[in-house]
Amino acid sequence: MSASAILELRDVGKVFGDTVALEPTTLSIEEGSFVAIVGPSGCGKSTLFNVIAGLLEPDGGEVRLHDRPVTGATGHVGYMLQKDLLVPWRTVEDNITMAKRLTGRVSSAHRAEARRVARQYGLGDFLRHYPSALSGGMRQRVAFMRTLVTHQPLLLLDEPFGALDAQTRLEMQQWLLQVWKDTERTVLFITHDVDESIFLSDRVLVMSPRPGRVVADFVNPLARPRTVDTLTEPDFVVLKARIMHLLHGGTP
Ligand SMILES: Nc1ncnc2c1ncn2[C@@H]1O[C@H](COP(=O)(O)OP(=O)(O)O)[C@@H](O)[C@H]1O
Ligand SMILES: [Mg+2]
Repeated sequence: MSASAILELRDVGKVFGDTVALEPTTLSIEEGSFVAIVGPSGCGKSTLFNVIAGLLEPDGGEVRLHDRPVTGATGHVGYMLQKDLLVPWRTVEDNITMAKRLTGRVSSAHRAEARRVARQYGLGDFLRHYPSALSGGMRQRVAFMRTLVTHQPLLLLDEPFGALDAQTRLEMQQWLLQVWKDTERTVLFITHDVDESIFLSDRVLVMSPRPGRVVADFVNPLARPRTVDTLTEPDFVVLKARIMHLLHGGTP
């Protein structure tokens, strides 16, 4: 394991009955990086996250965090599911502190932190609101902040913007990059949107349809900060073409 790796998978695979959800997979994730995972529906992306988070026991192999084995153990990552899972009868503030509410007491310091991050990232006026009063993008921000205040250094985000319209999605992508820069976390980000995978990441892992496996690992050459102009840069277009080729059955 390299000194700067936060996460390492060694031959981690998962079979459900006759379905090979994830072929034995080996990869290493650099601390502080933003890594996108792109692949078609059903290719094992969420299975990969569930194994990393310890919610699923892999059939073989090992998951290592900071060079310690954590295979099958929970509580070492921040995990945000595609569905925001906000509690409808709790306010924004209470939703942000939800993880603490489930595992112990919510202290005044936790509440203060929830209010601080909400104000810092554009939800300060909505702390007393209920989720039903929020737009889709705002709900995703609340769900993301709930993940952020767990203070886990590694965040797993599973298609967090999949249900948003294109304009809101671009705003949320820029918002996420700002939070990532401020908070210095490592992010693994699942998407089936190729543009999104390139716009956000330092590196793009491409997965094949079933049986799921990582077929390519691209270093993203695009400079930061990313803006709307990034989407038309030559390097963007070239990388997009290479990824699309693989997703449509081409060879690496
Ligand atoms: N708990 C489970 N039991 C049986 N099959 C599953 C289970 N979870 C996922 N699968 C199957 O494994 C494959 C990969 O699923 P998943 O990881 O959810 O894909 P993705 O997130 O890429 O859409 C799919 O064929 C899915 O039906
Ligand atoms: Mg999934």
